[in-house]
Amino acid sequence: MSKKNDDNRYSNWIQNCWHHFCLRPKENSSEYSHSTTIDNNHKNTRFVSQAGKEIVTRESNFDGLLHDPVEENITSILHVNENFISSKDYTELMRITSPFHITVETLAHLMTTMEKHCQMGLEPNTKSSSDLKMLPTYVTNLPTRKEQGDILALDLGGTNFRTLLVKLHPNNEPQVISEAHIVPDSKKLLANDLFEFIVDVLKQFMIRNQLDLEQEYVLGFTFSFACEQIALNKGKFLTPSKGWVLSDLIGQDVVQVLQRIIYQKQLKVKITALINDTVGTLMACAYHENTCRVGVILGTGTNACYFEDINKIHTISDRAVLPTEATEMIINTEWGALGEGGCLDMLITNFDREIDRISNNPGIHIFEKLISGMYMGRLAAEVLASLINQGIILKTQRDHKQSYRYYGPFHALYMLQTSHISEIELDTGHTISNNPGIHIFEKLISGMYMGRLAAEVLASLINQGIILKTQRDHKQSYRYYGPFHALYMLQTSHISEIELDTGHTFANTRNVLKKLGLDYATNTDCAIISYTCRLISRRAAMLTAAAIAVLMKRLHENKQVAMKKICIGIDGSLYRFHPRFNMVIQRHLKILAPVLLNYELRISADGSGIGAAICAITANDARQALRKGEIQKSSFYQQHNRIP
Ligand code: BGC
Repeated sequence: MSKKNDDNRYSNWIQNCWHHFCLRPKENSSEYSHSTTIDNNHKNTRFVSQAGKEIVTRESNFDGLLHDPVEENITSILHVNENFISSKDYTELMRITSPFHITVETLAHLMTTMEKHCQMGLEPNTKSSSDLKMLPTYVTNLPTRKEQGDILALDLGGTNFRTLLVKLHPNNEPQVISEAHIVPDSKKLLANDLFEFIVDVLKQFMIRNQLDLEQEYVLGFTFSFACEQIALNKGKFLTPSKGWVLSDLIGQDVVQVLQRIIYQKQLKVKITALINDTVGTLMACAYHENTCRVGVILGTGTNACYFEDINKIHTISDRAVLPTEATEMIINTEWGALGEGGCLDMLITNFDREIDRISNNPGIHIFEKLISGMYMGRLAAEVLASLINQGIILKTQRDHKQSYRYYGPFHALYMLQTSHISEIELDTGHTISNNPGIHIFEKLISGMYMGRLAAEVLASLINQGIILKTQRDHKQSYRYYGPFHALYMLQTSHISEIELDTGHTFANTRNVLKKLGLDYATNTDCAIISYTCRLISRRAAMLTAAAIAVLMKRLHENKQVAMKKICIGIDGSLYRFHPRFNMVIQRHLKILAPVLLNYELRISADGSGIGAAICAITANDARQALRKGEIQKSSFYQQHNRIP
């Protein structure tokens, strides 16, 4: 098959996968139903096999799968096919993109910082100064595989909201029936509206699947936001993220609010477990691999949880409520919040600052904004916009008068005449003249250029959000016009598609640009765009590797739970569909993970559903045992899993 067809084939396939994962309801999917969404012809492609399948041990050398010449020398993509980049453009490109290059030393520094915050988050005295919330989850046991029952689950907080029916049978594969639903943006504002909406959807789901509405069901609720739990079925909502607002829920017990609405709508459904999506991922993975001790989400948002020695968690308010045999508990790190206190400032570029500034939660979840799928497309767009501004890429589009100069407040500014600014002195900037390189002194001085020069500087101040903020806020910024507008449609899924190119025909890159309405890209444009996307996603994967290595180190050093090998369960659209994310994580873990610890990264598909179901049924079984007097009175379950 020709290289071009190959690129197109990958491109179509990845689009289908992404589309399926993000938008289409899954029907009758079984636990690894993810594989059913993959075109069978491609099951064994390099892309699929890369996503968390290989077991890595410290003894092995880099294997073939981990070898990618471009990854080893990322600038080489700029030289494939002798794409012509002038040395001036090349230098400027390197200057603009250099902050995205990070070294192993920087990662080591990040690890030390993160370790410190982990420790602080587990101590009552230092907890409030830690960026990491390190939330106790009250999940103290791995699945036994003896769990059984038909359990409902809700999975809320990612790209989609999902309703699930999970059928657990001892020692058998779980069966999962699930449906994905889009949550309208209007429902992301108030919890009351949101929960009414999801309970209505749940009721319809139960009816469609012929569940007896008169029967009592147990439900596990995966709620992918930071919640401070005091029991498995009680959690105070702390911080909205990923574009959600839910202002009326902050400080409220999520279970209580949802349970009230469930009963109001006459459903006999009892929420017995509230879990984070990372916990679901860990539990679902542990159902198959009992060495699993870490759960990671790399999707719209990012986060991780891990099993901590219970004696090291000093923030559990009442230890008497724990099962007497508990030695470990899952801690939800909420690692997305790292950097809120400034500890990542050495990594933050101006582009990251801009992403943070235009987000609906500035200053919050800084680490998440460097990594996750919600921000990656936007971040690439920021960098590419700057490359357009500097005349490095899409020059033809600029020549077609589609540059930001012709739109909105920028357009207004470019009407500025020297007469308007006679009192302003400016001596830098870049003018578009019809005689470049000629009459330089005149351009610094004379009336023909002065207005334009001021406009350049002012445009840059708009770009930096320093002036005319209201215009920007009114969506009149350059982002909404011409090639910039096109670029700001860039999604993280497009980045995955672009990065499938090996740099020969750039078929995928061209395809993405075409979809965005940018038809004039040259090979050089494609090479630079591809390079930029790789840099940004590589930085994200390297940071993820460092953060995972910190948790591995903690596990390895924990006497109580010391193990020779651990498995890390990972889920999320970014990890599943980005062609190189897993590889870059693996390569850096080889350097950063504790030397004597063997590890395996595994995709933990449908974790949110299965994990929630496992936790919900375990809690319910404990409730029932308690009713029958089979559990000690002092048990945690007696005090916290109350029967209504
Ligand atoms: C939330 C986490 C969640 C993660 C992944 C973050 O924004 O704060 O609780 O696990 O996204 O969904």
